[in-house]
Amino acid sequence: MVLREVPAENIARPLGRNEVIGLLFRLTIFGAVTYFTIKWMVDAIDPTRKQKVEAQKQAEKLMRQIGVKNVKLSEYEMSIAAHLVDPLSMQITWRDIAGLDEVITELKETVILPVQKRHLFQGSRLLQPPKGVLLYGPPGCGKTLIAKATAKEAGFRFINLQPSTLTDKWYGESQKLAAAVFTLAVKLQPSIIFIDEIDSFLRSRSSSDHEATAMMKAQFMSLWDGLDTDHHCQVIIMGATNRPQDLDSAILRRMPTRFHINQPSVKQREQILGLILENESVDSSVNLHDVAKETDGFSGSDLREMCRDAALLCVRDFVHNQSDSASEDFIRPIHQSDLQKAIGKMKKSKSAGGHGALLHAALD
Ligand SMILES: Nc1ncnc2c1ncn2[C@@H]1O[C@H](COP(=O)(O)OP(=O)(O)OP(=O)(O)O)[C@@H](O)[C@H]1O
Ligand SMILES: [Mg+2]
Repeated sequence: MVLREVPAENIARPLGRNEVIGLLFRLTIFGAVTYFTIKWMVDAIDPTRKQKVEAQKQAEKLMRQIGVKNVKLSEYEMSIAAHLVDPLSMQITWRDIAGLDEVITELKETVILPVQKRHLFQGSRLLQPPKGVLLYGPPGCGKTLIAKATAKEAGFRFINLQPSTLTDKWYGESQKLAAAVFTLAVKLQPSIIFIDEIDSFLRSRSSSDHEATAMMKAQFMSLWDGLDTDHHCQVIIMGATNRPQDLDSAILRRMPTRFHINQPSVKQREQILGLILENESVDSSVNLHDVAKETDGFSGSDLREMCRDAALLCVRDFVHNQSDSASEDFIRPIHQSDLQKAIGKMKKSKSAGGHGALLHAALD
């Protein structure tokens, strides 16, 4: 009916120049509006968008802080750059680690020196810094501590890689993010990519792995090999784990420099206690050697918790005395007996924890 109302000659008539331009103009506007509407809709339904925008802001701020200028980063590299650590903001130094002098010396010689004094090692292929360093040992014995101190003392750029940042809901995105880790590290070199609890990320591959995970692991390994072939590249991957047996054997091969951070011995425990109690008020009668002897099987982190408990006993006394009479306004120093009580408490909780774990395993 509408067509019948349009004169026949108008339909047959070719379009004039102005009409064509008008039509093109309208089509362009229509196309642009559709494009931006769809883009806005996709952005609005993307649950990770906010996260991405924040990551970008964080990355830009961090890059400014660590003094990286004139380095163009892709969108993927930006989301990895959000995990850069500013060495100035890190507090841990070698001085905060006790009883691990051998490990620290070896780390300095094999990892830090070849990067810092590159010119001395240029001629040799054998003396190049290792591409992979693994710190392994029981929990709470200072692995993460050593990694942090390495970053601070060596002055390397430090990417604290959380495996969760590599996961993305879109197929193929994870691989792009994995690639971005390496390209970013190369752009910022000398740099360390630190993966804490690396067993959770690069555990033994199995046929039950999800396809995307398996592909990401494979890609990670081949990118790692890429670092190996480039002798001028100063990127080190450092991993820490307390379950080295769960790591993929191909990953272990790529981490030839390994440091076993074991439970501290009596001498090491004494040194750790000395460091922990360095700035506390401790009674002169306290014998740290005896305390070290009594704390067999304690990790560095257990020792710190134990000392905190002992210090809290002093605070408890202070609170009680204050309510009795307002005589002295100071917290008494830590005595040997406080440490002994705290050791007993820690031993009890450690054995209870052990039983709990066994019970859990039995129920499973
Ligand atoms: N050798 C040490 N010297 C001083 N403090 C230590 C030492 N070892 C452990 N600690 C204390 O224990 C805490 C935990 O150490 P850290 O996080 O390095 O353990 P970890 O080996 O990484 O454990 P996990 O395997 O559970 O991650 C540290 O913050 C520190 O206070
Ligand atoms: Mg740790």
